[in-house]
Amino acid sequence: MRYRGGRWKVNRPPETNVFHYPICGIGCPKAVREFYLGGHGESPCNFSWYVIEWNGQRSDIVQLKDGRTLTIRKAEKTDARQLIDYMKIALDESDNLTMSANEFTMTVEQEEQFIENVNSSAASATLVGFVDGALVCVGNVSAHTKTRMAHWAGIGMSVLRAYWGMGVGTALMSEIVAFAKSTGTLEILELEVRADNAHAISIYERVGFQKFGYRPKAFKLHGEYHDNILMHLEL
Ligand SMILES: CC(C)(COP(=O)(O)OP(=O)(O)OC[C@H]1O[C@@H](n2cnc3c(N)ncnc32)[C@H](O)[C@@H]1OP(=O)(O)O)[C@@H](O)C(=O)NCCC(=O)NCCS
Repeated sequence: MRYRGGRWKVNRPPETNVFHYPICGIGCPKAVREFYLGGHGESPCNFSWYVIEWNGQRSDIVQLKDGRTLTIRKAEKTDARQLIDYMKIALDESDNLTMSANEFTMTVEQEEQFIENVNSSAASATLVGFVDGALVCVGNVSAHTKTRMAHWAGIGMSVLRAYWGMGVGTALMSEIVAFAKSTGTLEILELEVRADNAHAISIYERVGFQKFGYRPKAFKLHGEYHDNILMHLEL
């Protein structure tokens, strides 16, 4: 993401103040400063979340706890290679995801097709987050295709282990919810999470997800069972 030579457009005010980045600080686009200093926000210096359009393409930029910048946007076909590399690492790093890295066998062509399919549905999205050009998090919103259930979507997310605890997961979840609201058709988001995944559950509860169910023995890892909690959010 470059900060010069293009046209910035501020879409909406920040929805969270969990990050503490001075909007008026270094690297803050002039349009964002003007938006706040023009009286649209309460305090221009207590937020780090801002939404911009860069020559028409929407991205969300978040200042992480370590000072680096996270940029979140919808995945494009050209992200296929990076997404595959990401998935192999992320699946290897966590026992909380539904499969292991060696079960992930998508080719670049299949990944491109997957992205194209997702992007052809207005209520679905794969969101990708970058820090210094590296893909560090992925979120999915998968809307039901059948009319009677098209008002809800399943979601999922992951962050590379090297970036855990910096606010990436929280930022990605906020963006998932913002995307879902922007569709105009989605009313409910649903997810399933291992009952012992406290970090993920704290993120979900922070944006308003509520527990509504329980799936006993959902995971079987090295002969041991783990239960899942079902959660939903009414947008
Ligand atoms: C769960 C996951 C998405 C969280 O992402 P993250 O980027 O670490 O999340 P955040 O940095 O926004 O942290 C959210 C909260 O989790 C807690 N947390 C996260 N990492 C932590 C750590 N290493 N130690 C202690 N607390 C931690 C904190 O309470 C934090 O809240 P805070 O802002 O009040 O400090 C990430 O750990 C992950 O991808 N895990 C593997 C895949 C997974 O479990 N996905 C969810 C499947 S349902």
